[in-house]
Amino acid sequence: MERVVFLLVLASACSVLAQSTYYSSYYGLKLTQADVDQYTSNGTLANCTNLIAPCDPNEPRRIDGTCNNLNFPSYGATRTPYYRILPATYYKPSSTVFDPQRTKSGKEPQLARKVRTSFFAEGRVDDEVLASGTTHFLVFFATDITNTRDTTNYVSWRTYCCKPEGAADTACAPNLVPETDYVHRFSGIRCLNMTRPLTFQTSGCLPPTTTPLRIVDATPTHDLSPVYGNVAEPARRTFSGGKLKTVEVNNRSFPDTSSIGLLLGINFFGIIFFWRHHNFIATQLAAVNPTWTDEQLFATAREINIAYGNQLLHYELLPLFMGHDYMVKRGIIQTGAGFRETYKETLKPQISLEYPVVLRWLHTLQDGDLRMYYTNGTLHSTFPVVDLTSNTDFLKEGDNMDYVTQGCFRQPTANSKDYIVDPDIVERGLGRLQQSNDIMTNDLAKNRYFGFQSYIHYREHCFKQKITTFDDLIGIVDTVRITQLKALYEDVADIELLAGLWVEKQAAGTHVPPTFACLVGDQLKHSIHSDRHWYERQNRPNAFNAAQLAEIRKAKVARMLCDIGDAVTVIQGRAFELPSIDNPMVSCKDIPAIDFTKWKA
Ligand SMILES: *[C@@H]1O[C@H](CO)[C@@H](O)[C@H](O)[C@H]1NC(C)=O
Ligand SMILES: *[C@@H]1O[C@H](CO)[C@@H](O)[C@H](O)[C@H]1NC(C)=O
Ligand SMILES: *[C@@H]1O[C@H](CO)[C@@H](O)[C@H](O)[C@H]1NC(C)=O
Ligand SMILES: *[C@@H]1O[C@H](CO)[C@@H](O)[C@H](O)[C@H]1NC(C)=O
Ligand SMILES: *[C@@H]1O[C@H](CO)[C@@H](O)[C@H](O)[C@H]1NC(C)=O
Repeated sequence: MERVVFLLVLASACSVLAQSTYYSSYYGLKLTQADVDQYTSNGTLANCTNLIAPCDPNEPRRIDGTCNNLNFPSYGATRTPYYRILPATYYKPSSTVFDPQRTKSGKEPQLARKVRTSFFAEGRVDDEVLASGTTHFLVFFATDITNTRDTTNYVSWRTYCCKPEGAADTACAPNLVPETDYVHRFSGIRCLNMTRPLTFQTSGCLPPTTTPLRIVDATPTHDLSPVYGNVAEPARRTFSGGKLKTVEVNNRSFPDTSSIGLLLGINFFGIIFFWRHHNFIATQLAAVNPTWTDEQLFATAREINIAYGNQLLHYELLPLFMGHDYMVKRGIIQTGAGFRETYKETLKPQISLEYPVVLRWLHTLQDGDLRMYYTNGTLHSTFPVVDLTSNTDFLKEGDNMDYVTQGCFRQPTANSKDYIVDPDIVERGLGRLQQSNDIMTNDLAKNRYFGFQSYIHYREHCFKQKITTFDDLIGIVDTVRITQLKALYEDVADIELLAGLWVEKQAAGTHVPPTFACLVGDQLKHSIHSDRHWYERQNRPNAFNAAQLAEIRKAKVARMLCDIGDAVTVIQGRAFELPSIDNPMVSCKDIPAIDFTKWKA
């Protein structure tokens, strides 16, 4: 009898252990014990598999992104694959080397640095409409779905890529600088550090003879993972009042980011804002529901924060860039305020490899200086944004955070239509971490190492329009830029995707090139339709009710900065746009706020 009881206990202990299941990170398929043994014996279990607790169809969104798609529970988590909009194309000198595609006539392409410096002069010209907060938020939403490991690779792990040792490491892919370079002919710098993307192949998950595929290192949905983490991270929580951990400096609250790795300065603003916003929401919920537990407050505040962020991104920020009508026409947003059943379970929650590279076009509107303002709008001082990298303490000094917050809605972005880019972004992009770094040259080089097809193929994908000669670009690209393209590329088919975006004329009423809008639009649609937990749905676990969704629809960056910004008492209603006669400053009291009593249990 005792023996039977013992066996029963043992059996139930085993079933608890056996509940979690290993999935192959790449294929997303359940692994047998024999598979797991193989991954264990060759040392790739941690890098090449996802361990997933059983999915409950009624549970809300998990922090680690698993179980979003019940048929493919690992997709949605980190260490999963990107998909490609168009198939890869590489130059293959051997079975394991995948080099950037050669030109149509078989030559190596021009140096990425040469292409970048040919298209863009360096200087500072302001945009007339966009406020710099747009770039803070766009960078934040970009790091929500991708991450900085590729940068860490050459900054911290492979520091020799520009030295002779670098030649022996195929992971090194430094950008050579031509001797005639307008800037570096004076500095003597001839090489900028860079590494190839980390892939399933470099992690040992797939044979090195297969086409390289980058690994998604953040959860690939817009779920505010820079704030909540990509895996459950209890260290970020206080476990009281549903709040996230903060550090108080000068009576201002900052995220406790001790558990976050390399923190690029410009990424920090979104983290501060949404971190504080979580605690703001938790406080409001606690006032309405004094009996709620920490867990209830945390989960509900997170749900609201994510929905608020998505409403802000899709309904306020991106329409400003891509055009409201375009967003509606593509079905990314709706004109009504009610629920929307968007879910298609055949789509996996993934992002395209093209998406983060296309987003890099936005570096053309990044200003190198943070302009800091008094609350009355007078300029206080400026600070180079690249120097915030690894030095975010600057924001904690004195009243700096107040001044910088004013800058979010008072400082213009750089103009993106003038072929002028900020010298800090293209010469000292990583601040003190590198002697010199050209973010936009890196962007083009990465485009090449990802093996993207030519710009003209993406143009055809988007607009069903065949381009076979440089003259076919007339109307799409300014004539002077076509002349430049001819000087840099032998054939129109040699133009890389990002280079095409750099020269494409922006459509009237937008702030982006049409192919950017198309490819970003593709991704947003995919992201919305593949997300079972999308906030506009009624039929999902823990869905908002109609009254709650109506409150979420009030999301506006002006309201958010009033709620969580230091010393913000007046702000223009459309705070992603600069203040103007049509967009006057108003008191925070006059900007509609969320009514949290709608969450009263
Ligand atoms: C995981 O992959 C990284 C490179 O992406 C590598 O440095 C590390 O050694 C791998 N870990 C294991 C356990 O294989
Ligand atoms: C390790 O084993 C797994 C499972 O068999 C296999 O898919 C993977 O390619 C192997 N990796 C290496 C580096 O041998
Ligand atoms: C600190 O902030 C709290 C609330 O945010 C405020 O009540 C208090 O007066 C502030 N203290 C100082 C010294 O500014
Ligand atoms: C704005 O405030 C600063 C600091 O209090 C002050 O020095 C400046 O004169 C003010 N500017 C205007 C236009 O009032
Ligand atoms: C490249 O990295 C090495 C090692 O960190 C560094 O000494 C060198 O200055 C870097 N090169 C540039 C151009 O920043």
